[in-house]
Amino acid sequence: MTTGVAVQKRHMLYEGKAKQVFATDNPELVIFYFKDDATAFNAKKRGSIEGKGVINNRVSELFFTLLEKAGVRTHFVKRLSEREMLCRKLEIIPVEAVVRNIVAGSMAKRLGRAEGEVLPRPVVEWYYKSDPLDDPLINDDHAQVFGWASAEELAKMRALTLKINDTLRAYLDSRGITLVDAKFEFGRFNGDILVGDEICPDTCRFWDKATGEKLDKDRFRRDLGGVEDAYQEVLKRVEQ
Ligand code: TMP
Ligand code: ASP
Repeated sequence: MTTGVAVQKRHMLYEGKAKQVFATDNPELVIFYFKDDATAFNAKKRGSIEGKGVINNRVSELFFTLLEKAGVRTHFVKRLSEREMLCRKLEIIPVEAVVRNIVAGSMAKRLGRAEGEVLPRPVVEWYYKSDPLDDPLINDDHAQVFGWASAEELAKMRALTLKINDTLRAYLDSRGITLVDAKFEFGRFNGDILVGDEICPDTCRFWDKATGEKLDKDRFRRDLGGVEDAYQEVLKRVEQ
């Protein structure tokens, strides 16, 4: 794939809650545009986090580069500008992977566990990507019988999820951040499975290792204030 050649941005293919995706003159490549718009609870709560798009683009670039170095293939090609990223065009698998190292969020609620409980090993969960259904929790059988992902793909996604978790966790730990949980998306590309979407404070829970302070989108979801500062702090530490 040529990455040194300039690509032409074409029509918008898709607009999500936090991003727009554009076609390019190369059918294998798309351009992501990162917005400042923030939503929570499947867009029942809406707002904006100033500078979020710029930070999420840069943090995702740093994480994807780290993952590629660790041997995990991603859709990332290069960052084009403050808010634009050139990516391989994936056939998105409609099964989101969530990996949890510490109980928080929906796991705490669903299973009646205290937020902050350290899990003896990482737990991988699947969610069906569906806005009308609020991304329900599913298992391997659901994914297979409804044709969302094959058993082989799920096995590969699970192994990749655990490897990404290990890689990010070690990197963040050395920068004073605890990786509590994270959400990853995967897609098919020329017979392989690549990590897609974005990896940033919108899609992970980051807690300050020393103080336990939340440095992620929970500050927006739970109206804790200091949202922009938390995103800036993550970028500063991840860039170190
Ligand atoms: P949860 O505890 O709300 O299920 O979230 C688990 C992780 O997934 C957390 O790091 C935030 C991330 N996440 C998303 O990226 N998108 C979503 O729509 C939700 C609900 C969570
Ligand atoms: N994806 C969620 C929404 O649909 C946002 C979140 O909680 O991260 O609004």
